[in-house]
Amino acid sequence: MPALTILMRFLHILSAVTLVGGALAWRFGVIPALTSLSADTQGKVDRAIAASWRPFVFAAIAGLLVSGIYNFLNKTGLTPAYHAVIGVKFLLVLHVFAVMVLVCRPDNAKRARQLTGVAVSGVTIVILSAVLRWIMTV
Ligand code: HEM
Repeated sequence: MPALTILMRFLHILSAVTLVGGALAWRFGVIPALTSLSADTQGKVDRAIAASWRPFVFAAIAGLLVSGIYNFLNKTGLTPAYHAVIGVKFLLVLHVFAVMVLVCRPDNAKRARQLTGVAVSGVTIVILSAVLRWIMTV
């Protein structure tokens, strides 16, 4: 069904952009900007951002799981190379999902370090996804 395939691809890309793009903007845009505020205000704004972004993180995780499983189950003719790359992608995805849930907790002193880890794994996942697409075309 082409409409469902397009919808799932749209959901996958939108969710990936939200989760990984959100983490990059938070780590390299928001956190450095917070340092210009007083310690008290910094804490309040930091907690408010985590609380308001949390539903988007959960929605993006759900969107990636539904669309990713749909995409995967609809692939045919998968090679050993494809399985190897997607296996590594799954491990990094688990890291990103688990750490983003922790990142959104209130009063989290490790937020910046955790977001750096998500940024590295998230960008690597996007590279691996491009490799998967290339493997399917050769
Ligand atoms: C942080 C989480 C994830 C990110 C950032 C991500 C990112 C991406 C991106 C950018 C693409 C390429 C989209 C396209 O060209 O149409 C893609 C494709 C794909 N993703 Fe994900 N993804 C994530 C999680 C998942 C999960 C959880 C699954 C499976 C359960 C999954 C399975 C797939 C599959 C099967 C493809 C198609 C690859 C191909 O072209 O053969 N992804 N992903």
